[in-house]
Amino acid sequence: MKKLEKIAVLPGDGIGPEVMAQAIKVLKAIEEKHKHNFKIKEALMGGCAIDKTGNPLPDETLKIAKEADAVLLGAIGDPKYADPTLKVRPEQGLLGLRKELGLFANIRPVKAYDKLVGLSPIKNVSGSDFVIYRELTGGIYFGKSGRNDDNTEGYDIMSYKKYEVERIAHAAFKSAMNRRSELCLVDKANVLEVSRFWREIVDEIAKEYPSVKYTQLYIDNAAMQIILNPARFDVILTANLFGDILSDEASVISGSLGLLPSASIGEDHCLFEPVHGSYPEGAGKDIANPIAMILSAALMLEQFELNKEAQDIYDAVDYCMDKSIMTEDLNPEVSYSCSQLGDIIESLILGEDIKVKSVKEGSYSII
Ligand code: IPM
Ligand code: MN
Repeated sequence: MKKLEKIAVLPGDGIGPEVMAQAIKVLKAIEEKHKHNFKIKEALMGGCAIDKTGNPLPDETLKIAKEADAVLLGAIGDPKYADPTLKVRPEQGLLGLRKELGLFANIRPVKAYDKLVGLSPIKNVSGSDFVIYRELTGGIYFGKSGRNDDNTEGYDIMSYKKYEVERIAHAAFKSAMNRRSELCLVDKANVLEVSRFWREIVDEIAKEYPSVKYTQLYIDNAAMQIILNPARFDVILTANLFGDILSDEASVISGSLGLLPSASIGEDHCLFEPVHGSYPEGAGKDIANPIAMILSAALMLEQFELNKEAQDIYDAVDYCMDKSIMTEDLNPEVSYSCSQLGDIIESLILGEDIKVKSVKEGSYSII
């Protein structure tokens, strides 16, 4: 097992730098408590990189990311570059990074916190605890695309190589073995040949994991089941575009997109980022929810088998959720700022007394 030492930090755009600052704060607390020595190197990616260099993924950033043991990413995207017809866009930086680092498995856990069950607009969220395994470096995102000569046709091809399906499928089945041993393949095999190809391969691989209950759902039905009965899912295995859509939908279960972390894993590299975007309207106001970013750092620790360290973060986050110590997206009545939440989680990890000022109350309260 590789040791976690060098961490490339890409704060990105919008609220990215603010939530990243909290994750770093928390990692420093973990470092202190568990006697680690993380070497953090910051680099530009996304809109901020276009501003400074004209390139959303500068060579220097790619080099730092490749040399690191892990990459932490905040968020990318800027209204300046929102026009999808622009030649140079922040998203290209992220897609380029995923491809260059070979991050084929995107893992997005979705969990309903008891205290937040009432906040979800979906009814039956209690007990939901599943994980989406989204293929990340293939499919329609990276297939042939273009227009015909007289611009009367546009296309993006969804194609997969056998090994691309195999490696994400194995990762998902292995995860299922460590969870409740259920895996649901989500596809559109009633229409798409590429989905029938996936099924053929995944059906075979399923035989290697006989203890895992293997099922299949069409994407349209799965989208409905996630709303109707989210607690029925354990591991969802799916292609790039389907996983992109389902994971945003699933975020509603937990009550806020601000709670969902993700891990992107390849053979040699790994990257951890919140599922949410750069929320430009909230940037610079210290109101963003840092939990998804902090939990992304916990996923990073787990990836390097620093399980006690990760557990410290989960415990601190659970404590905050339980005591309604939340940012305004989750608790508009008595909300804490992004940096206060970071401070509190830092104190919880270090076992210090928590003294925070509640934004709305305007007074110090000791919890
Ligand atoms: C995500 C995002 C990205 C994606 C965008 C920003 C390119 O939506 O990570 O889910 O579509 O993969
Ligand atoms: Mn997305």
